[in-house]
Amino acid sequence: MSEIDNKYQILHFPDLGDERGNLVVVEGEQQIPFNIKRVFYIYGSDDTVVRGQHANLRSEFVLINVAGSSKVKVDDGKETSIIELNQPRMGVYLPKMLWKEMYDFSADSVLLVLSNEHYDSSEYIRDYDEYLKIIGNKESREDL
Ligand code: TYD
Repeated sequence: MSEIDNKYQILHFPDLGDERGNLVVVEGEQQIPFNIKRVFYIYGSDDTVVRGQHANLRSEFVLINVAGSSKVKVDDGKETSIIELNQPRMGVYLPKMLWKEMYDFSADSVLLVLSNEHYDSSEYIRDYDEYLKIIGNKESREDL
């Protein structure tokens, strides 16, 4: 396992379903490792689309493909890893300051995203070179 695989966390949610169907519950600070302040969902993307392509100074995320499938590529500036989201009971937790791209959406993909922060465009790093610079500076500060 590479170092980067320790930087995100695959989550498995219990199914409280019965003969009436499935029921999956996620609660902040329980199955989700933060207090949930923001929920959004992405659908109608297809396998030609690449979304994300940013890192966040403060936002953490949990991504769940509640229908269909997609892939998430995470990048810490040194290594990359690809996670396939393809079950409604599976999620991935992404901490702040991890570069991410979502792609390869199935036509029926509904990608639910939970975050610990309200939307603030100023905490999004959308330039990969700037991301590398910030990561580099942070690491050199930690070395002091
Ligand atoms: P964008 O960050 O490009 O979405 P993704 O991360 O899925 O690629 O967001 C698209 C637009 O929506 C952009 O103008 C910002 C806006 N937006 C909000 O206003 N609030 C949000 O929580 C998000 C995720 C996006």
